[in-house]
Amino acid sequence: METRQQRVAPMADVVVKPSGIEGLGIFAARPYRAGERIRQINVVREITPESPLRADLGERVDHCSYPDGRVVLIGFPDRHVNHCCDPNAWELYEGTSSYFVARRDIAAADEITIDYNINIANGTAWPCRCGAARCRGQVAGDFFLLPIEWQREYRSLLAEWFVRRHRERLAELDRGRDGRTA
Ligand SMILES: C[S@@+](CC[C@H](N)C(=O)[O-])C[C@H]1O[C@@H](n2cnc3c(N)ncnc32)[C@H](O)[C@@H]1O
Ligand SMILES: [Zn+2]
Repeated sequence: METRQQRVAPMADVVVKPSGIEGLGIFAARPYRAGERIRQINVVREITPESPLRADLGERVDHCSYPDGRVVLIGFPDRHVNHCCDPNAWELYEGTSSYFVARRDIAAADEITIDYNINIANGTAWPCRCGAARCRGQVAGDFFLLPIEWQREYRSLLAEWFVRRHRERLAELDRGRDGRTA
C-alpha cells in the first residue's frame, strides 16, 4: 500500500556521491532490470561559439558530450557518470533526447557506469582506473581502437548518428573483418 511518505517524496532514480573510480559518480537509488531506462539525461545546452563553455561558472569540458558533431553540456546528476570498461549501463539516443539504460540487472547502491568509448572516434586517450576485471588501463577515446570482440559486443548499442557517420568502418565490422583496416 502506498504510504503518505512515498507520495510526498518518491524514490529518486539515482544519487550522486564519491566514487571509488574517480571524484563523484552516480549510484542507483533502486534496482533496475536489464534493458530498463534509468533516466533521461539532462542536457543543459549546446556549446557553440555564441554560447561557449563558462569555466568562470564552473562549467567543465569533461562534463560535455559530443553527439553527431555537436558539443552539449550535460547537467546534474548525469554529468557525474563515470567510465567503466565493463559498464552496467549505456546511452540510448532517441530523437533529441538521450537516456541511460541498464545493460544488465543493477542493484540499489551500485555505481552506474557507461563505456565512454561507445559513440566516439578520434578522441583523446587517458588512463582508466575503473577497476573492472577486464579493464584495459586506458580510455582510448575511439570505438574502433577497442578489441574487435568488444566492438561486436557494443555494436547494437551504437547511436544511429554514429552508425551513419562511420558506415564504411562498421560495414567491415558487420562483415566480420577488422574495422581498423577499413
Ligand atoms: C563526466 S566526468 C565523470 C564524473 C566525475 N567523476 C566527477 O566527479 O564529476 C568525466 C571525468 O571523470 C573522470 N573519470 C571517469 N571515469 C574514469 C575512469 N574510469 N578512470 C579514471 N578517471 C575517470 C575523468 O577525469 C573524466 O574526465
Ligand atoms: Zn577500465
